[in-house]
Amino acid sequence: MEAYFKEIGIRIFLGDVIEVLNSLPEESIDLIFADPPYNLSNDGFTCHAGKRVSVNKGKWDKSKGIEEDFKFHYNWIEACKRVLKPNGSLWISGTYHSIYACGFALQKQGWHIINDICWYKPNAAPNLSCRMFTASHETLIWARKDKKSKHTFNYNAMKNGNWGEDFIKKPGKQMRSIWVINTPQNGEKIYGKHPTQKPEALLERIILASSNKGDIVLDPFCGSATTGVAALRLNRRFVGIDLEQEYLDKFAIPRIKDELARRELPLFNAKAQVREEQVREEQVEYGLLP
Ligand SMILES: C[S@@+](CC[C@H](N)C(=O)[O-])C[C@H]1O[C@@H](n2cnc3c(N)ncnc32)[C@H](O)[C@@H]1O
Repeated sequence: MEAYFKEIGIRIFLGDVIEVLNSLPEESIDLIFADPPYNLSNDGFTCHAGKRVSVNKGKWDKSKGIEEDFKFHYNWIEACKRVLKPNGSLWISGTYHSIYACGFALQKQGWHIINDICWYKPNAAPNLSCRMFTASHETLIWARKDKKSKHTFNYNAMKNGNWGEDFIKKPGKQMRSIWVINTPQNGEKIYGKHPTQKPEALLERIILASSNKGDIVLDPFCGSATTGVAALRLNRRFVGIDLEQEYLDKFAIPRIKDELARRELPLFNAKAQVREEQVREEQVEYGLLP
């Protein structure tokens, strides 16, 4: 399948997750981060900037019922297993609307769960009904293909890194499974905000923890390409997939171009032809072309 956007080390595909994943070579990806639909767009309300707003994220987030939603999660996770290298690993992010279905699919397919992480959002929106606790976390499941896989874990980078706003992480101590990270900051939304945009700090932590420089990181539901921006910043390669052209045009591609420009890569320079050739060679080398 032809990429919708390509640059050195980057491929973004416009299309359905299963179709695109099935077109990628087997065992070609080092790390997958997936932020699939939550299936929570049920016409309810939430609070944003002090105002009552719809919870609906988009057509793609409507639930089709428990059985159909489970089938969807089962199928994309199975397609991810085929493209992941034997020692690669997979992260899935979600709320209670979706994360149990994803966890059950992983168990049914024989994945080995390494950790589940509670991502705590101190600045989460308040609850309007005042009849329940305020939802202020997401769960992240980290899994490898099976118990024998030798997954990457950059233990020292996690233990000794600087984690700024995270008041649970004490300097020089092991990193625990509760991470304190705010929802995306204004500087991350200059092109507007994708309805479920993840913070760059979350993706940087995940990519740094579980991949190495030069690795290929795949995001099968890339939306505004937060994963791509973090991957480039950490010198990894990136493959993204999304079925909404508007998200790719408005958010993902401009954000990636900005990140490339920041790194002073030869984007849109006079040597465009040389770049084209490099991109083509790379497609074959990394198996990104059939
Ligand atoms: C929860 S959002 C991901 C947001 C992303 N993590 C970010 O930081 O911008 C899920 C994304 O999956 C896409 N999507 C939904 N169903 C899809 C499908 N069947 N194939 C490909 N993409 C899909 C949506 O368009 C949406 O952008």
